[in-house]
Amino acid sequence: MGVRQILRMGDPQLRQRSMSVAAPWDQQLEELILDLQDTMEANQGAGLAAPQIGVPLRVVVFGGTDINPRYPDQAPLPRTILINPVLTPLGDGKEDSWEGCLSVPGLRGQVRRWSRLRYQGFDGSGNEIDRNVDGFHARVVQHECDHLDGILFPDKLSSSDAFGFIPELEATGLIPAIVKKA
Ligand code: NI
Repeated sequence: MGVRQILRMGDPQLRQRSMSVAAPWDQQLEELILDLQDTMEANQGAGLAAPQIGVPLRVVVFGGTDINPRYPDQAPLPRTILINPVLTPLGDGKEDSWEGCLSVPGLRGQVRRWSRLRYQGFDGSGNEIDRNVDGFHARVVQHECDHLDGILFPDKLSSSDAFGFIPELEATGLIPAIVKKA
């Protein structure tokens, strides 16, 4: 257990719809949550979803103090373990921003997502989570929860021009030197 291999785009396990977790949580779920956190931290990710390590369950992790220095322009996200998430957009606002993904290494793309949303679910101890968020926090939640439905960020590009390898995008000035990956 610990740091697990992250599946990359092209692996069919990333394209399946993951199953809801049945309560009460069991020991296997605890191990999954620890592995997700270890793997996310080892790869300096902003978040990680269970299907990215080959587990088809509706569990994601994101945030935490360890990653904050990597995203100096972003408000810190609380370390969150989110099980069986339900997302509800708040208002009609959407915004474009650049994203990466540990399952799509080396690439960045611009994706349009809801600006504000409410998310609900459960943490690793079975406590309810119910938050209204915006900005980077809202984006990360949407990105991670897309993984649970087999969706990867290149499926949702706001423009086919706004997608490419990091050095090329940096050279053209489309992205700054450090952008998020999740
Ligand atoms: Ni991702």
